[in-house]
Amino acid sequence: MSSTRPTVALLGATGSIGTQTLDVLRRELDSFDLVAIAGGQRLGELAAIAKEFNVSSIGVVSVDDKATLQSMVGPGVTIVVGAEGLTELSRCADVVVNAVVGFAGLPVTLSALEAGKRLALANKESLIAAAPLVAKVRATTGAEILPIDSEHCAIHQCLAGSSGEPGHPDVRRLLLTASGGPFRGWSKEQLSSVTKSDALKHPTWSMGPKITVDSSTLMNKGLEVLEASALFGIEVGRVEVVVHPQSIVHSMVEYVDGAVLAQLSEPDMRLPIAYCIGSPVRLNHAWGRLDFGQPLHLTFEAPDRVAFPALDLAYDAARRAGAAPAWLSAANEIAVEAFLNDQISWSRIIPLVAEVMDVYDDEALDSLEELFENDATARRIAHGMVVR
Ligand SMILES: NC(=O)c1ccc[n+]([C@@H]2O[C@H](COP(=O)([O-])OP(=O)(O)OC[C@H]3O[C@@H](n4cnc5c(N)ncnc54)[C@H](OP(=O)(O)O)[C@@H]3O)[C@@H](O)[C@H]2O)c1
Repeated sequence: MSSTRPTVALLGATGSIGTQTLDVLRRELDSFDLVAIAGGQRLGELAAIAKEFNVSSIGVVSVDDKATLQSMVGPGVTIVVGAEGLTELSRCADVVVNAVVGFAGLPVTLSALEAGKRLALANKESLIAAAPLVAKVRATTGAEILPIDSEHCAIHQCLAGSSGEPGHPDVRRLLLTASGGPFRGWSKEQLSSVTKSDALKHPTWSMGPKITVDSSTLMNKGLEVLEASALFGIEVGRVEVVVHPQSIVHSMVEYVDGAVLAQLSEPDMRLPIAYCIGSPVRLNHAWGRLDFGQPLHLTFEAPDRVAFPALDLAYDAARRAGAAPAWLSAANEIAVEAFLNDQISWSRIIPLVAEVMDVYDDEALDSLEELFENDATARRIAHGMVVR
């Protein structure tokens, strides 16, 4: 019997966003049908998810992984491999959740939109690196992006108050909130001796290692500035960052008449995930519900741009446009990976990205070939700086 429920493909199913998406889907078994999943290293977890949700297709990274996984799930499940596999799976469902980490998520973003699907987007790196290409495929009939990133999901909801004209002329500014990360208020001297375990302890969110490190350097917020500009068609000069350590206000929109709209909840990614999957229907289970019977202490302050130069690097990449955001994101991926592999210190991550951006010489970005070339060049230069 064929299902009449909307189908879902969850790519990056074994990670932090992936497992929280599964939590949402477990509550919505009568409303959505998970048909495809993909992941990287954690094959045992992929097999368990496939069994629990009776999925028909799985994406893996290599041919060896395919053979191993096929023996775990049996011959009835189709297993596809690599970027081609992700492309195929991104076309097979009504809602495509891109929960892959890093540039590896690019085929999912482009293929889902090309196929006219709803893209529930957690993978900000693909949108940032490929913004001009994403803008083209986003025009496909039926294609839409709903942002899972909690800040952008909040803005998406607050923009319901806008007239919706292109460029949102009735919006004065988007206010992206930032927890400030684990090192908010730290001196330069303290920052020089940050360890890996310090950087992997986020004060308010539990996330995968790459985004946790990005949050500690504030590069995550810089990437989010680029993401907001690309998503909402608002130039970065109207996107501002406000440090809000409690992570209750997920972001705000200030209109030209002075009104500020905000979306609030306890920090819980299952709320934006459920919003993206269910929209325009609000799924009837409250994630991160606030208790207004308890004192609610909300504070806001400006970010420390001297201690955390990643923000200015991101604004600069946005102004340079072309392939600059792709370079920034690629160099950052290499630097974070090198930090996680104990090859460089925490305090070296952002200077290394800055040195790569010093080499960048305004490159156009009009095609996928140009994107891959630029991504490879930025990675090669960054890698050279890691090992030198
Ligand atoms: N976590 C959050 O709260 C949060 C919030 C906002 C935005 N985001 C964004 O969401 C994305 C995912 O973040 P995360 O924290 O969930 O990361 P994560 O926990 O590291 O999970 C990453 C997922 O991607 C999979 N993956 C890695 N390389 C792959 C490849 N080549 N092909 C297919 N799958 C691959 C991993 O598989 P294996 O684990 O099996 O190797 C895993 O399922 C990132 O872009 C992040 O910036 C996350």
